[in-house]
Amino acid sequence: AEVVIVADEDAAGALVADAIVSLIRSKPDAVLGLATGSTPLASYRALARRIADDRIDVRGVRGFALDEYVGLPAGHPESYRAVIAREVVEPLGLTPELVRVPNGDPATIEHAGADYEVAITAAGGVDLQILGIGRTGHIGFNEPGSSLASHTRVKTLTAATRADNARFFDSPDEVPMHCITQGIGTILRARHLVLLAFGEAKAHAVAAAVEGPVSASQPGSAIQLHPHTTVIVDEAAASRLS
Ligand code: F6R
Repeated sequence: AEVVIVADEDAAGALVADAIVSLIRSKPDAVLGLATGSTPLASYRALARRIADDRIDVRGVRGFALDEYVGLPAGHPESYRAVIAREVVEPLGLTPELVRVPNGDPATIEHAGADYEVAITAAGGVDLQILGIGRTGHIGFNEPGSSLASHTRVKTLTAATRADNARFFDSPDEVPMHCITQGIGTILRARHLVLLAFGEAKAHAVAAAVEGPVSASQPGSAIQLHPHTTVIVDEAAASRLS
């Protein structure tokens, strides 16, 4: 992977905005892979400003979120459907119908993963996938032990990830037990991976992803199997790289 060390999240955001704007200029119906969580927020803000300043036409841009909680009530503000609408679709001015999030409704969960794979394939695949990484090394919600060939499916969140995400909920018990996530194999089919990480808490996961052995016990290490990966980190997240 190409590793770029930046001063802060805003500097990373400028690079992400550059990459996505040039993609959209060459392909107005580009397919973006969208991460949620805190890590990409500055990048989404930078991209929204760039789209507005440079008057980029994004009406044809398509998107696929990485993951979703299973079983949150429809319209819950922390469902990734709601987060993607609030943090991405609205500020960027994307066409809502062109941006999909895995369906975490328990009533249809049995075929939701396969449906999502079909939709990504029908869109021609993801052009640029934005990734964060969890302290446990997860990408998407593929926790340690996930098959490197996995497809979109239901997974159980680890206690560590539920604790990390409790900050978005009123109480830790409210964090769902399960999620539906693109698999590692799904993520690896995107044409360009852009992994972002900031802060000391991510340093171990970043080092394992970039330099560690490729192993299902560190799902982020799967990026080493991809020929076009850009890792954008601050000094603290880079601090365990050799
Ligand atoms: C989010 C996702 C996760 C997060 C990871 C880091 O869609 O798939 O892998 O990227 O949990 O979360 P933050 O950015 O909140 O530290």
